[in-house]
Amino acid sequence: MHLHPIDGIATTRYLLGFDLRRKPHLDADVLVIGSGIAGCVAALAAAENDREVLLLTKGELQESNTRYAQGGIAAVLDDQERDLGDSIEQHVQDTLQAGGGLCDELQTREILKQSAQAITFLRRHGCRFDGEATGTGKADLTREGGHRFRRILHAHGDSTGAEISQSLRNAVLQHPLITVREHSFSLDLLKEDGRVVGALYHRRGEIYAALAGSTVLATGGCGRMWRETTNPTIATGDGLAMAYRAGATVADCEFMQFHPTTLYLAGAARLLITEAMRGEGAVLKNHAGEAFMARYHRDGDLAPRDIVSQGIIAEIRNTRFPHVWLDASHLGQDYLRQRFPTIFGSLQEFGIDISRDWIPVHPSAHYHCGGVITDAQGRSTISGLFAAGEVACTGLHGANRLASNSILEGVICGLQAGIQAAAEGGFPGRIRISQDHYPAASSKLDIPDLLRSLRAMMWRNVGVERDHDGLSTALRSIGFWADHQARGALEHEAGWELQNMLLVSQLVTAMAHTRTASLGTHLRKDSHAQNISAHLTMTRPERADND
Ligand code: FAD
Ligand code: SIN
Repeated sequence: MHLHPIDGIATTRYLLGFDLRRKPHLDADVLVIGSGIAGCVAALAAAENDREVLLLTKGELQESNTRYAQGGIAAVLDDQERDLGDSIEQHVQDTLQAGGGLCDELQTREILKQSAQAITFLRRHGCRFDGEATGTGKADLTREGGHRFRRILHAHGDSTGAEISQSLRNAVLQHPLITVREHSFSLDLLKEDGRVVGALYHRRGEIYAALAGSTVLATGGCGRMWRETTNPTIATGDGLAMAYRAGATVADCEFMQFHPTTLYLAGAARLLITEAMRGEGAVLKNHAGEAFMARYHRDGDLAPRDIVSQGIIAEIRNTRFPHVWLDASHLGQDYLRQRFPTIFGSLQEFGIDISRDWIPVHPSAHYHCGGVITDAQGRSTISGLFAAGEVACTGLHGANRLASNSILEGVICGLQAGIQAAAEGGFPGRIRISQDHYPAASSKLDIPDLLRSLRAMMWRNVGVERDHDGLSTALRSIGFWADHQARGALEHEAGWELQNMLLVSQLVTAMAHTRTASLGTHLRKDSHAQNISAHLTMTRPERADND
């Protein structure tokens, strides 16, 4: 992996001041932050290795991006290989191809060869996939963009995430060694003698410390930084911001993946319209009714996601119409209702019958390929800190994630991180850390207004298409907001989320500004320069007075 460090963004070490001698503590061998797929799997893995685990999550246990996953989980299983000619190696090649030359080939192979174990782990914890209970007992497989084979398992048609998160929730709650604290917002990682020893968190108006021998960050992505996004409200980049403030190295943040097909209907939520629908034969059409994707890629509607999103944006510009259409009408009502029940039902509520009507769709921010750099065991660059899932940058996704590889990565890397955290964990002992209190932020700060401005700016200037001038403007505006409007200590979660998003949007924008050539999801309209085939990395500049 060739790394190209760029200048870090200066920021305070913590979101607020505190004195641990005056804070109530909770102790555990392993602290896990986040209860999506990566956090639940890491917690189970550490507990199955006889460690006491504390799991903090900022909402309810199931609230996560994981819960909304539709298409499924990519995995090559033994029987599938024999039947269809697929293989781990083909999956590796599709992943490398989608990743635009920036995947870490060794890591990719290492992760994908464990896909059968990932499915076994999920089944062991109660997860069932479509098709398993019928006929041959084999799971039904679908296809998505960039996959040359049908290799995606799914559940309840288009509700794979709900099945997975429900099963893991039950398993976590039943495990005697796991303590769960819902509505516990992690603010910052605590470090002593260069090692992460837990985190500061907020629950019901109080600040607490959670102390542990090792900490697994599994806080997911940052899609809420963009005005148009498939992500639920929890996806505010908190973990990435916390890790950066604590001194972990982050990488590839410019690679935000835009999902091509989100419902685009005034007054309706930006519901994801799964790529599996195209995998089963639905076709993208422009305003003139032309099926246009063959003009952009030989794989047409099943080209990798970055190419489909960029093709749609070009069609929108050329036709001067605000969205394109997805036509699934030829698939038939009975089939659509049974195979895509969530989408069928949700669109029916808005008067759209997808067996008759075309679906208005548009790209939106979906998956953050970059994050906290980790090795194969999930170790970050700071001792005591592990990362897994969307917050991490393992090298699997490169410049553009292959569809349905992230749920798989969440299981495999969550397992590795949980096992390793258990091996290196244990009660950290007595800790005495304090940080002088910062001046309070202005009481006049209008958080919703600043958040709207940030999200609009990110969509306009750091969206699917980017250029030097737009990125420079975004860097200046966001830097100003962070250093002036939102500076100082706040007292509530909406404010901390805003501060985290301001920091993460600076990491994304600074890397997008530095990478002057297009690559994967990062499309620079203004340059045809050679790609820098290196990873951009950033580490917070050390400031002795503040660490
Ligand atoms: P998440 O599942 O997002 O979980 C993060 C957890 O961290 C949450 O519990 C959150 O509350 C918690 N958290 C965050 N900040 C804090 C904090 N400060 N303190 C405490 N807790 C915190 N991928 C696929 O592979 N296949 C698919 O079919 C698929 N479909 C998708 C559909 C949609 C609509 C979306 C949005 C994503 C989809 N993805 C899919 C992507 C995939 O769902 C995510 O990448 C993956 O679920 C991330 O898992 P995670 O455990 O890393 O994070
Ligand atoms: C989808 O179902 O289209 C989303 C799959 C993914 O993000 O991997």
